[in-house]
Amino acid sequence: MHITRSLRLAGAALLGLAASGLSLASSATDPREFNTFYAPSYRLPPASAMSPAAARGKELVHATYRFLGAESGVRAANGRPYVGNRLACSNCHMEDGTRPNAGPLVVVARKYAPPGIYSAREGVNRDLTIRINGCFERSLAGEALPADSAWMQDLAAYMEFLAAGLQPGYAWQQVPGQEFPKASLLTRAADPVRGAAIYKDQCESCHQRDGSGVWRSDEQRYRYPALWGAGSHGLMAGMGRLATAVTLVWGNMPHDKVDALRPWTRMPVEDAWDVTAYMLSKTRPFDSRFTVTDWAGNDPGGVPNLLRRAPDASYDHTMPRVDARGHPSINPADPPRFSREQHTYGPFQPINDALTEARHWLGYP
Ligand code: HEC
Ligand code: HEC
Repeated sequence: MHITRSLRLAGAALLGLAASGLSLASSATDPREFNTFYAPSYRLPPASAMSPAAARGKELVHATYRFLGAESGVRAANGRPYVGNRLACSNCHMEDGTRPNAGPLVVVARKYAPPGIYSAREGVNRDLTIRINGCFERSLAGEALPADSAWMQDLAAYMEFLAAGLQPGYAWQQVPGQEFPKASLLTRAADPVRGAAIYKDQCESCHQRDGSGVWRSDEQRYRYPALWGAGSHGLMAGMGRLATAVTLVWGNMPHDKVDALRPWTRMPVEDAWDVTAYMLSKTRPFDSRFTVTDWAGNDPGGVPNLLRRAPDASYDHTMPRVDARGHPSINPADPPRFSREQHTYGPFQPINDALTEARHWLGYP
């Protein structure tokens, strides 16, 4: 908690220095308006504006397992809990989705407003409900919430509450610090052995040597989340893939040293790739339901989604393939062009290049 506090104060101080004289300077003194990092495009709405539904949604984001995990007794229609591991949304979308560069949820209600955003992985336009359920099924290794369930309505209400902070005259795209910071690709494979040493030095004190984290049974929430094993995020999640996971780690870890508002406090990007590779070298929940359906079908323009398959998705149907005559192919029956090892640890640029080549070879624009 004290870490959060000092971050907020640091943010306010930073703004005071950098932006004194801006018309917003007065709002920086309002203690409710932390994360002034977002100003002038976004300000957190006052807590008094939160409806009971939004307040329940915030609790759900904060301690998802407590309400929907194995011990809650709540079950999806197929008998499984909605949260299959023990994570909470807020273990990744930090400070209940208000922290910049930590997957903030502040404007997602606008970003995923109908018609939503096309996802080549899912093969559909994702609106907010579908996007949230993607994290339930994959990040939380669980089950999709019914769209009309009270839980989904409450989550949406919380995200609507947050989005009301978008300031007049600004588009959601102008809010800084969204998603996780882009980490430039390495030209070599990430090295889990080198990463193990970094883990011992920089991560083990909180996440534990065996990666199982520190669980608080009184709160039914991780104090330090599990990074692998049954309690952790699924292989089919963005976080199960190196090029996505590295952005969370590089932008935010170690939690007590990296200040999201001060990029120069981050570790060298190479170290982040290697330590994340170590994390992903361990076992985690795997959901075979998605191996065949991911990146299946064609996009609305008729282009096969397999041509956009993430190079770091190391599970089945890696792309591209090579046909019997040595030409690029996207037929899963042909042998893969790159090893599973390379799809796990990189380097990823050659895979991206080969996908582009395959696209041209197969005659797509
Ligand atoms: C293990 C970490 C993790 C957990 C837990 C998690 N997410 Fe996510 N979430 C991510 C990552 C990583 C992304 C970005 C996806 C990508 O880049 O592929 C994301 C993306 C999103 C987005 C879209 C954000 C944007 O700016 O486009 C929403 C909305 C979201 N998550 C909601 C949730 C909710 C609600 C929960 C809890 C039910 C949750 N997530 C749990 C890691 C997580
Ligand atoms: C001082 C304690 C601390 C240290 C050191 C630390 N973390 Fe974390 N980490 C946290 C906390 C706390 C969270 C969850 C944030 C929250 O719940 O608000 C977290 C979240 C994460 C997550 C997202 C949750 C998940 O399960 O996927 C990853 C990944 C992660 N840390 C990796 C690392 C790595 C890699 C290192 C070393 C480079 C590291 N952390 C060092 C405290 C720490």
